[in-house]
Amino acid sequence: MLGKTDSSSFDKPLNNPSLEIGGVMARNPLWLAPLAGITISPVRKFFVFLGAGLVHTEMISCAGLSRGNNKTGNMLEPDPCETPLVLQLFAGDVKTLVEGAEIALQNHSFAALGINMACPMPKVLKKGAGSKLLENPGLAVEMVTQLRKLGYPVWLKIRKTGDLHPLNTLSLCQELVTAGASHITIHGRTPSQRYEGISDRNAIYEAAREFPGFIGASGDVFNPEDALDFLDRGCSAVLFARGALRDPFLVPRTLAKMGYNVEERMIYPSTGFQAELLKGMGEDIQNKYNAKIAEILVKRFLSGMFKGIPGVAEFRRQFAMTHGWDNLSHLLDKLQDFLERRDNYEFK
Ligand SMILES: Cc1cc2nc3c(=O)[nH]c(=O)nc-3n(C[C@H](O)[C@H](O)[C@H](O)COP(=O)(O)O)c2cc1C
Repeated sequence: MLGKTDSSSFDKPLNNPSLEIGGVMARNPLWLAPLAGITISPVRKFFVFLGAGLVHTEMISCAGLSRGNNKTGNMLEPDPCETPLVLQLFAGDVKTLVEGAEIALQNHSFAALGINMACPMPKVLKKGAGSKLLENPGLAVEMVTQLRKLGYPVWLKIRKTGDLHPLNTLSLCQELVTAGASHITIHGRTPSQRYEGISDRNAIYEAAREFPGFIGASGDVFNPEDALDFLDRGCSAVLFARGALRDPFLVPRTLAKMGYNVEERMIYPSTGFQAELLKGMGEDIQNKYNAKIAEILVKRFLSGMFKGIPGVAEFRRQFAMTHGWDNLSHLLDKLQDFLERRDNYEFK
């Protein structure tokens, strides 16, 4: 449910032609990135509503799935409208990876199975997973080979490799494509950069030229031009990550620039409409998970949204200080009322 917004329109993807990328029919090449702790089902639904052509789960621990960890299992409760949905897994060895994938597939189907070879966080590296796999291309290749046997397209998310890695980015892509990877998204930062510095767009352009149709782009996508540039230079798709957290409407605005048929209210959303949608997403999170997660995630979006809008600064301060989903939701109502009254007054 999306608050006061018509929920059927929420469920309806934008009416655009599909395209096949990496063995998956996507609605368009603008995709929601995998974001740990964020891209849970209601958030993915929110972005499908905003026009994302495909959505990713957050990275899911195969070891957690194998142990029957309830929390990990709960991350896998997709809504039927979240299509196409790519499941992103992480593991440090082939057996755990394949076991985890098999467990995930017992209850749900996915458009593709993804392997995270990009995460630079110590708790993931310690398990030999994420970007640790870039140090061991033989293992990365074996993972692709074995996962493919489950009959799904295998998608990878890697980072640009650095001096300490055995293969440069292009050679690594070559190995992975030869092993049967159907799609590779490259984040143009090396693992040691984590999220600092600038993402190297040239490394991604180069791979897109070398492997046409296989390469998606990730890194520093903060405005429509950042995304369009990647597509113009041959990338098959672009992932929206931190840019979409700051401004979720970046997705429909970019679609509109690409010539897609996008509703006006999505391109120039009133602040009230944004608040309404955000509240609806929070309610969806509360219903599906709990009030605490709704509060955390809606605050995460609020920390980037509505900046510089006259009269909203005080609300933004209050959002940060408010505790509990009910209080936050009430404050979003107040913001919406305030904006509606202001807009009515201004237009009289
Ligand atoms: C909070 C957060 C969580 C992330 N979680 C994942 C993840 O689960 N899997 C993954 O492959 N990348 C993950 N990433 C990386 C993003 O998908 C993306 O590649 C990265 O943020 C670069 O894009 P940007 O500079 O446009 O934000 C995460 C990034 C952030 C900021």
